[in-house]
Parts: sequence; structure tokens; C-alpha cells
Amino acid sequence: MSKPLLQVALDHLDIPSALKATRALAGEVDVLEIGTILCYAEGARAVGIIRALYPEMTIVADLKAADAGSTVAEIVFSQGCDWMTVICCAPYATMEAALKVARKYGGDIQIELYGEWTFEQAAKWRQLGLTQAIYHRGRDAGLAGQQWGEEDIGKIRRLVDMGFEVSVTGGLYAKDLGIFKKIPVKCFIAGRGLYGAEDPARAARDFKDAINLNW
Ligand code: 5RP
Repeated sequence: MSKPLLQVALDHLDIPSALKATRALAGEVDVLEIGTILCYAEGARAVGIIRALYPEMTIVADLKAADAGSTVAEIVFSQGCDWMTVICCAPYATMEAALKVARKYGGDIQIELYGEWTFEQAAKWRQLGLTQAIYHRGRDAGLAGQQWGEEDIGKIRRLVDMGFEVSVTGGLYAKDLGIFKKIPVKCFIAGRGLYGAEDPARAARDFKDAINLNW
């Protein structure tokens, strides 16, 4: 089983704040995510700016796209992202259209799992050729007290058995990673647990230590 990667979600309100976090973290993480919040605040140019500064890194545009798959994928892949997210409730046609553009650029689409979805839908995503999913405890669900538990582990395992590479996110801190021990997680994605730490680079090393300890 390969070790999970570490991804920082740059959920900043402006590019200077995101760049400050990126300077502290780029040498410590494997993947840079232009978070949904930053995409809303600054648009796709945030992808282009970070791509120009970090040409070798894997970059995600976390659009959580729900429609116009081809158009929005073209906007962010042309700015240089490697992966883009589509929300799980999007129509299959949106997913298919986004995947077509992603492949044109040598990139990939990740299905962001939020709220209600079914394994029947997941089987259809596999049929469409999608291979990446993000298992997400939403920010608001976390604030409402929803904890990680056995139900989550079971669902992640089932997605892995279906052939998905599964990333995990949602209010994660290094101390949480042991919960997912022995599951082949592709990426742990953290925002506030990394850029929000007093020493972000140190927090990233704590995540890496937890990964090395458990995988
Ligand atoms: C919110 C997101 C976040 O980027 C993701 O959940 C990571 O952020 P945090 O670790 O701060 O919860 O996709 O929609």
C-alpha cells in the first residue's frame, strides 16, 4: 500500500494570504489545492498564479462544479491545474464533459462526496471512467459536531473496493489520521489544520509523521 499524500486546501479570501501559506507549506506537502473559497474570491486566475510559481507541483482546482462541466473545466485546466472537483450531485453529463476536458490536458476529475449520494451512483461514476473520489465531512457538518466514525471507514473501504482512489478531508488534524489506518487513502486534505496552525510547516511535518506511523 503506498503512503497517503498530503494536500493543503488554500481556502483563503485573497491571493496574498494564499501565497503566504503556500510559501510556508510548498516544501512540506505533495499537492496544492486552490480551495473553493479562494476560487470564489479570486477566480481561476488563482490557479494560474500558483501554477506559475510552483510549476512542478500537483495542483487542484476545488470548484465543486455542478454544471457546465466542459466550460468550467476548460477555464481551470487552461490555467494549469492537474485535477478539478465536481460535486457528487452533478448530472452524469456534467461529469463526463469535465472528464473529457481533463483528459485533453492530461488531468483528472475528482468527485466530491457531500451530503446524500449512493453506491449505485458511485458505480455509474466508475462506468463513466471516473477513478477519484473525495470523502468529505463538510465544514458545517464538522461545526455541528459530526465526528469521523466506523460508518465513514466502511464507506471509504467500499469505494476503494470499487476501484476509486479516495482522498479524505474535512476539519482534519494530524491526530485524526490514525482513524483511517490501513485504508489506502490517496491524499489527506487539510486546510485550517495546516495554514491555520501557528507554525504551518511544523503542522505539515506532524501530518507526515502521522502518515509514516500509520502507513
Ligand atoms: C470545504 C473544503 C475544504 O477545503 C476542505 O474541507 C479542507 O478544509 P479544512 O481542513 O479547513 O476543513 O473543501 O468545502
